[in-house]
Amino acid sequence: MYKPRVYVTRQIFPDALDLIENHAELELWPDEEPPSPEQLKAALAEVDGAIINVMDRIDHSVLDAAPNLKVISQVAVGLDNIDIQEATKRDILVGYTPGVLAKSTADLAFALLLAVARRVVESDKWVREGNWKISHHPMFWLGSEVNGSTLGILGLGGIGLETAKRGMGFDMKVIYHSRTRKPDMEKKHGFKYASLKRVLTESDFISIHVPLTSETHHFIGAKQLKMMKPSAILVNLARGAVVDTEALYEALLKGQIAGAGLDVFDPEPVPPEHPILGLDNVVVLPHIGSASNQSRREMHLLAARNLVAGLQGNRMEECANPTVYDSLGI
Ligand code: DGY
Repeated sequence: MYKPRVYVTRQIFPDALDLIENHAELELWPDEEPPSPEQLKAALAEVDGAIINVMDRIDHSVLDAAPNLKVISQVAVGLDNIDIQEATKRDILVGYTPGVLAKSTADLAFALLLAVARRVVESDKWVREGNWKISHHPMFWLGSEVNGSTLGILGLGGIGLETAKRGMGFDMKVIYHSRTRKPDMEKKHGFKYASLKRVLTESDFISIHVPLTSETHHFIGAKQLKMMKPSAILVNLARGAVVDTEALYEALLKGQIAGAGLDVFDPEPVPPEHPILGLDNVVVLPHIGSASNQSRREMHLLAARNLVAGLQGNRMEECANPTVYDSLGI
C-alpha cells in the first residue's frame, strides 16, 4: 500500500513522530538551526505532507517547488509565515494548533507583565552582580502596582481571553478591543469592551494578542505609543512586527511609556547588539509563549493528527482554510 511521504522541519515530541510514522514515511530535519529557504524547498520537493514551524516561510516559490504537497500542518496558532491564499488555490489543506496553547501563553503574558512591573529581572541581575549590600531599603526597587490597575487587551481571541481572565484574578479592571465584540465573555467574566483609543489611553498595562496580518503590521507605532500613559507597560506575545520596534525603542528611551515585556521581536532572533537590550525597563524572551512541556506536546500531537487526517482525505481537527474541503469533496 502507498504510504504518503512527510517532512517534519523540526524535532518534535516522540509520540507525535510515532503517530505520523504509523501512517507515513517520515523524514526529520536533523539540525537545531532551521532549514534555509533553499533547503526547505529541497526537503519538500517530493513530499505529500509537512509539519512546519513558525520560522519556515511557505510562500509561492516554496509551493512551486513542492508539486505533490497536499497538507501543511503548522505547529502554532499564528499563520503569518504561510501564504494561505496560495495554498488554498492549490487545494493544499493547512492545519494549525489553536486552543491547546492559549493558557500557557497567557501564563507567560502575566509572567512578563509582573516581571516588568515589579522589576524582577533587573533586581535579580543586581543581586547576582554583588550589589545587595543593604539588607532592606524602604525606597529601593519600587515598581508598579498590578492589582487594582487597568489591563487593556488588544485582540480577544483564545490567548487574549485567557490573559484577560488572569487580569480579573489579579483584581484588575480589564478592558479590551477586538475585531469582534464578545458580549457573552463580557457578561461571563466582567471585562468591558472599549475603543482602541480608550484601551491605549486608559490602560496601565497593554497586552497584545492580535495576529500579524497586513492590517496589523505596526499596529502599535509612534502615534499609538504617544497615546499611552507615561506609566504604561506594553506586553507583546503576538508577533514582533505588530509593534514598530524602532518607535518602541524611542518611546522607552524618552520615557513616553514605562516599560515593555517582549516575547516576540522584529526581527527574530533579536540581534545581540540591538539597543533595546541595553534598557533596564525591558524584558525580552526568546519566543517561548507556548513553551511548557504540556502545551508543546499537545501542539505536536494536534499537528500530527491534523496532518494524518488531511493525508487520509479527512477533515482536520483545526483547519485554517476549510474552503478546501469543498474542492476536495470532504
Ligand atoms: C504560535 O503558536 O503562533 C507561537 O508563536 C509559536 O508557539
